[in-house]
Amino acid sequence: MSQVTVIGTGYVGLVTGVCLAHSGHDVICVDIDPAKIAMLASGTSTIYEPGIEDLLRQGIDRGNLRFATPENGWRDLIADITFVAVGTPMAANGAADLSAVRSVVEGLVSAAERPFTLVMKSTVPPGTGAALAERFLSDARVAISYVSNPEFLREGHAIDDWYTTDRIVIGTNDAAAEARMRELYADIESPIIATDVSSAETIKYASNAFLSTKISFINEIANLCDCIGADIDAVSRGIGLDTRIGSQFLRAGIGYGGSCFPKDTRALDFIATLNGYQFTLLKSVIEVNNRQRLLPVVHLLHALPDLHDRSVAILGLSFKPNTDDVRESPALDIVPLLTEEGASVKIYDPVAHDVQIPGATRVDSVWSALEGASAAVIVTEWEEFVQLDWQHAKTVMCMPAVIFDGRNCLDPLAIRAAGLTYMAVGRDGAHRGA
Ligand code: UDX
Repeated sequence: MSQVTVIGTGYVGLVTGVCLAHSGHDVICVDIDPAKIAMLASGTSTIYEPGIEDLLRQGIDRGNLRFATPENGWRDLIADITFVAVGTPMAANGAADLSAVRSVVEGLVSAAERPFTLVMKSTVPPGTGAALAERFLSDARVAISYVSNPEFLREGHAIDDWYTTDRIVIGTNDAAAEARMRELYADIESPIIATDVSSAETIKYASNAFLSTKISFINEIANLCDCIGADIDAVSRGIGLDTRIGSQFLRAGIGYGGSCFPKDTRALDFIATLNGYQFTLLKSVIEVNNRQRLLPVVHLLHALPDLHDRSVAILGLSFKPNTDDVRESPALDIVPLLTEEGASVKIYDPVAHDVQIPGATRVDSVWSALEGASAAVIVTEWEEFVQLDWQHAKTVMCMPAVIFDGRNCLDPLAIRAAGLTYMAVGRDGAHRGA
């Protein structure tokens, strides 16, 4: 079993630490935020992720999962395998902000007194590993092996994804480091792609860019379906059954959000431009997604020409179900536009409770959101909305009322049978309120 340190206890770092401890490795998770570390050490998860708290408590009870801050320096925290899993948020120019990564790598390199393997788990653009090696590792006092080991975890499924991943990517030019990584992941049955650092970094960005492309593509087809009266559900099924295409990521709607796709597509576009290449397709993917998230506003303005003093219910705030993460949620763009139009907006999300959007009111049940509303927009396909009693909804809403299903997750017949106007993305007749 390996001695492991994981630096950064966000989604990626925490899942990495907790799962490696579950596999039997000796793990220390490190974060600069003492409040986070205290909470985790007491067995309470700092993120909403199904199954994580159980594994966290088991690791603490077994004694092979510990938590620390770097307040006394990095020296004693460096393990044989030290993961960097700090954030790489989007900078104002669209690039990935690598300041936290650089500062941790610099700290580790200057504190290290014996050789170790530095594993980059943070999502860093192609070329970053080579730049870090040149800037920090080349004149380190001890030998440091650099490995790029990107993650492919989906929020809400992160623990399952860790153990049943489609592939493990190990990017390094150091054979001994590669062997250590293979040993670390010995209990996970998965193909391993062993390659150089830049290729490993590119695999991560290309995967997210491709999935984003699939979503923007199906959204374009859905918009076309609306123009010609075709049904996107049938079209998605029909093309997805072609095994060369595959059925996943063909769900049309108001576009992708979250902490990865929007940031990674923009960072890849930025790095391409910086390297003298115009990634035309990717630019279009981003543009389509930006436009797609405004669809509810465009169509509500059409259906209810004067939104002034009308109440609109926003159902869902997280960027997808089973997470409380609201980063890049379409709601963040939709709500301000509706309030600017004079609508009074009520927001309900079953899990994402802590976020406020200026000008809108947070309510604590779907029924208070719908009370008196002339329209409801499904931003997130939470099961609670899919199962909602729309007959009852009609009795509390201000009729005639419109339901804009931004995730194509409701049964149009049930909504229409309740006497409500149903609108969606690419579903036959949706925008005609048929
Ligand atoms: C994603 C990748 O899937 C994961 O491999 C990577 O490591 C991190 O980014 P995540 O951000 O958790 O994971 O979300 P994911 O489930 O992939 O969905 C991303 C967004 O795309 C969501 O907003 C979702 O609503 C949207 N989406 C997804 C669609 O609009 N249509 C689809 O068919 C699939």
